[in-house]
Amino acid sequence: MELNRRTVIAGAAAAGMAATALGGTAHATGGRTPVKSLFGKLADGTKIYSWSLANGGTKLKVLSYGGIVQSLEIPDRHGKYKNVSLGFDNIEDYVAKTPYFGALIGRYGNRIAKGQFSLDGKSYQLSVNDGVNSLHGGIKGFDKHVWDIEPFTKGTDVGLYLYYTSVDGEMGYPGTLKTKVTYTLTKHGDWRVDYEATTDKATVVNLTSHVYWNLAGEGSGSIYDHELKIAAARYTPVDSGLIPTGELAKVAGTPFDFRRTKTVGEDIRVANQQLLYGKGIDHNWALDKGITAKPEHVATLRDPSSGRTLKIATTEPGLQFYSGNFLDGTLVGPGGSIYRQGDALCLETQHFPDSPNQASFPSTVLRQGQTYRTTTVHTFGN
Ligand code: BGC
Repeated sequence: MELNRRTVIAGAAAAGMAATALGGTAHATGGRTPVKSLFGKLADGTKIYSWSLANGGTKLKVLSYGGIVQSLEIPDRHGKYKNVSLGFDNIEDYVAKTPYFGALIGRYGNRIAKGQFSLDGKSYQLSVNDGVNSLHGGIKGFDKHVWDIEPFTKGTDVGLYLYYTSVDGEMGYPGTLKTKVTYTLTKHGDWRVDYEATTDKATVVNLTSHVYWNLAGEGSGSIYDHELKIAAARYTPVDSGLIPTGELAKVAGTPFDFRRTKTVGEDIRVANQQLLYGKGIDHNWALDKGITAKPEHVATLRDPSSGRTLKIATTEPGLQFYSGNFLDGTLVGPGGSIYRQGDALCLETQHFPDSPNQASFPSTVLRQGQTYRTTTVHTFGN
């Protein structure tokens, strides 16, 4: 059944009533119905809400600002819960200084060289916010907008629909882009993200999520001893501005070879021009499986100390692995800890950076009448 806003709300209300009738309460951690509470206000008075949902042992808090995952709690091997994503406990810090903590990224996750591209013979100049380049959608990307959020329960799933419409010309991008992102917690505690978008004019789109993972718990120190495996024999080397050269280089014999499990820190200090450019790892892996109709497993992250694991499956062809290099000890998390370099890592499923200017990369063009659809599934274990 195609869900519209009315059935979504009716379904959520019915699930809440059922929970109450059984003597349960639809509260943040135990009940199945997502619960909304006030998180704070923007300077102009706009209220920002936090949505709490839980299912299958995973607890998630999502903000209407940027669709931000403000907290994601999972148990360790002894059942002890920790929030494994970096963030803040107040809206002011998210507005003033977030490096995209937990946010939805659009219209274009990652960099576009000089913020320029041509499509169908027309040139576009995007908002530039990273030296001469455009990063994560420009100065005011999707991470800095307020999203409409509706809760749902559907079978054994619990989740949120997040809506944002970006007007024609916003940040320089052509076409009105209607975006719907679905966050689902399954009965197994998987966090599934489905992205959908339509446009009324040809444009480029590359949506992703920017959770900073630390499976030992946010604020617990570095992730250099996390173990990682990525199913990719090639990656996209970059120039000093972190724009791909266009080559799909082999990872074999380089610090970028994660085909066998190794710790994030094992090769991070190896003298290597690419690591110098990124101040560590800040690169896109060209996943062996390429674009797939269904999400396929591409990466496994494990924290040996807690036993917590994260497996990522995606329909996307690329994975940006960013080792938190620009965390510089100036931000303080919700638990009161200062975040320093390497205190978290991002695994952003997406198309390759600068695809609009790289004819050999898979296309990121979306045309009128088409629907952009991608899915990424995060599976947790311990
Ligand atoms: C990029 C980094 C950037 C970070 C922003 C990542 O997706 O790859 O270069 O600094 O986002 O926090």
